[in-house]
Amino acid sequence: MKAQDVRTSFVKFFEQKGHTFVPSSPVIPFDDPTLLFTNAGMNQFKDVFLGTGTRPYKRAVNYQKCIRVSGKHNDLEEVGKDTYHHTFFEMLGNWSFGDYYKKEAIEWAWELLTKEWGLPKDKLYATVFKDDDEAEELWKKVTDISHNRILRFDEKSNFWEMGETGPCGPCSEIHIDLGEGTCNKNHICGVNVDGCSRFIELWNLVFIQFNRNEKGVLEPLPAKHVDTGMGLERIVAVLQGKNSNYDTDLFKPIIDEISNLTGKEYVGDKNQIAMRVIADHIRMLTFAITDGAVPSNEGRGYVLRRILRRASRYARNLDMHEPFIYKLVDKVVEIMGDAYPEIEPKKEYVKDVIKSEEENFNQTLDRGIEIFEEVASKLEASGSKIFPGKEAFKLYDTYGFPIDLTNLMAEERGLKVDIAEFEKLMEKQRTRSREATKKIFTEGKIGIADKVEVLLRKGDVLKTEFNPDLKQYEMEVNDETNKVILLSSDDENIDQILFSKKTIFYPESGGQVGDTGKLIYPDGEIEIIDTQRIDDLIVHFIPKMKKDSKEAKEIEKFIKSGGKFVARIDVERRKSIMKNHSATHLLHSALRKILGTHVQQAGSLVAPDRLRFDFTHPKKLSKEEIEKIEHLVNSVIFEDIELVKEYKPLKQALEEGALAFFGDKYGDIVRTVRIGDFSYELCGGTHLDRTIETGYFKIIYEGSIASGIRRVEAITGKALEKYLKEKEEEILRLNEKVDQILEEKQKLERELARVKMKLISDEIEKVVNSSDVPKIDGFKVVAMKVEASDIEQLKQLGDVLRGKIGRGVGLLASISENKINFVCIVTDDLVKEKGLDAGKIVREVAKITGGGGGGKPNMATAGGKDISKLDEVLKIFPKIIKELTQ
Ligand code: ALA
Repeated sequence: MKAQDVRTSFVKFFEQKGHTFVPSSPVIPFDDPTLLFTNAGMNQFKDVFLGTGTRPYKRAVNYQKCIRVSGKHNDLEEVGKDTYHHTFFEMLGNWSFGDYYKKEAIEWAWELLTKEWGLPKDKLYATVFKDDDEAEELWKKVTDISHNRILRFDEKSNFWEMGETGPCGPCSEIHIDLGEGTCNKNHICGVNVDGCSRFIELWNLVFIQFNRNEKGVLEPLPAKHVDTGMGLERIVAVLQGKNSNYDTDLFKPIIDEISNLTGKEYVGDKNQIAMRVIADHIRMLTFAITDGAVPSNEGRGYVLRRILRRASRYARNLDMHEPFIYKLVDKVVEIMGDAYPEIEPKKEYVKDVIKSEEENFNQTLDRGIEIFEEVASKLEASGSKIFPGKEAFKLYDTYGFPIDLTNLMAEERGLKVDIAEFEKLMEKQRTRSREATKKIFTEGKIGIADKVEVLLRKGDVLKTEFNPDLKQYEMEVNDETNKVILLSSDDENIDQILFSKKTIFYPESGGQVGDTGKLIYPDGEIEIIDTQRIDDLIVHFIPKMKKDSKEAKEIEKFIKSGGKFVARIDVERRKSIMKNHSATHLLHSALRKILGTHVQQAGSLVAPDRLRFDFTHPKKLSKEEIEKIEHLVNSVIFEDIELVKEYKPLKQALEEGALAFFGDKYGDIVRTVRIGDFSYELCGGTHLDRTIETGYFKIIYEGSIASGIRRVEAITGKALEKYLKEKEEEILRLNEKVDQILEEKQKLERELARVKMKLISDEIEKVVNSSDVPKIDGFKVVAMKVEASDIEQLKQLGDVLRGKIGRGVGLLASISENKINFVCIVTDDLVKEKGLDAGKIVREVAKITGGGGGGKPNMATAGGKDISKLDEVLKIFPKIIKELTQ
């Protein structure tokens, strides 16, 4: 019979007897300050028993998720050591609210076990309260149990109470004898024998008649009720023929998965106990977190923390040092998801919470175990059996060891913790914290004192937790473990908000700026403009809220009503900050590698848009040094190295060569950030997981801020996109400018050429029209030197000359690059009439200056080499023409 069949068969049996099925209530009780966790099926009906509430039915049946780790019903010590106690278990139950009583309860229980499920009658025992003749008679009358198996016990076993106060009454239990060989205790096995695993309680039938009041006095209730409870895990084991609950289909897949993940077999006490503890605890954690609890330092949250830390410690017995317990959540959901549909949708969240808790504790667990071992060995050597409270307190305070974990470890070594001394130290610490908190408020650093007085009166020690390794950018606040406290300050621009226990907002420190974001509630949102640490508190700054404004009143009311806010970090901004912070570590190390180890950090700023690093160095960085530094940082970025964050004692970190910034104060345990062999620093900031996430690194400024102190500013990631865009635009703008200048230049050149042409044309005109221009047969012969920039311009000038000369022959010469250019023109009429040929003429001319040329009869060009001959040529030109015309 599968576990699920057992649940449905139980429910069906009682439905047939007129019961209404009522679904399980959450493991976190609603509105019952006497309970940390739901510990029995009857919890949700407490008001009916007390007569303060009613239901539309008189008979109910259900299966209920229960947790027994605190208060009156606490099975934690046994869990894992035996095979049938659990922190989390399911209780099958049936109820009568002032309806049927002992007779039916006994009759039906017997019928279900022996008829429906066929358990052997000769293995079952019934117990009754010592004075309850009625119950014994009924067992004899309405069942066929053999009379010698009906046993009487006193209050300890047969009077059931919910807690220190609440409904209670005599009870009658059904036990089973699992047979010889199922108990290895050194005792005579029997019903209600402490620690006996052969005779096991299956079902408890409680006849609720009283309420135990706050004074401890039993008051009779207005009506008599039946409240029964049967552990599902146990009855499933019996029905599946297993000696251990962990061998049933409720646990086996979890145990197998632990084997799988750890590579260890489920054999031998050491492995078996560890695996059972982990399998048990992961169920408790999954259900408690699903129903709204979160690990914390107080109350219910601290129970979760203790349970998980206990599991982590047992994981060490399986040689597991990395977080893995969170992975088991999938198995729990696989096994339990059908019966409890609420766990599936929350599974990723539950895994996240457990993983980050595991990571946190793993950082100090090994070191704590070492310290414990050192102390224990010394004690053993000295023969003492008392583990000092001082050491237990140190393990608690510095290494996060819950006292029950230290107790457990001490017990394993045959030692006993000096709890009185431990408690004394705890109380001293609480007083110290309270005084410190009070001082912050009364000295006016934040908030107004009256609200804080209220907090302190309640005995709260305010200390805000922040975990830099939690990659969580959104959280719910204002539940009982993490309250929202609105403080109006004297500052005219800002008010403040505190979260009483923890925040995901990074408070400015170590150069990294504080986070910003929003606090969202159903009717609006409050902007968080900065986050600062003030001693042990992390304070969120918000814009000043007008006192007595509608908004302020609404928010106050919402906070008081326990309404949930969503606190959301500006994620993009925070991610940019993380890139810059990790890049700052890379830069620091690169500076020391390229410039020398005299480089010491003198200050830094890690902002979203840039990073700034000040350091000791005597002179300006050269362009080459800057390039080398950039290159080195970028090569580490592209190597894609993991950033390993660890917690360890300060002394150890410094011995290992971690760089510390002397402006900062450090505690005994410090966080270190290591980037391969490249960088190792003490740091509490938020960092990337891998260097590649930086994107790229670029220095944008280098300068001096004081004698011997340089400053470098750099950018990474997204800022680089903006930077490149700006540079690109700059280049484009420059290009445009150059084009514009070139265009202007050409324009000016054209203008210049035009002016030059005009000047030369004027000069030509002057020469052509002068009275002493030589004439042959009435046509003019002009030969002159002009300044033309090239042969083309000279040809143009030739045309000018032709236009002005009317009838004639002209020669223009210009010198460029140590050569002479000639152009010769003959007006068309002369070509026709006199057969003059410019080509021929120009060749004659060139000949004299040592060159050659040619062209058409009306225009030809030539080059000459001998500049010294130019004047002569010009002078004799009329003569040459004259000769040619004869
Ligand atoms: N409320 C009873 C119990 O928890 C049935 O044992």
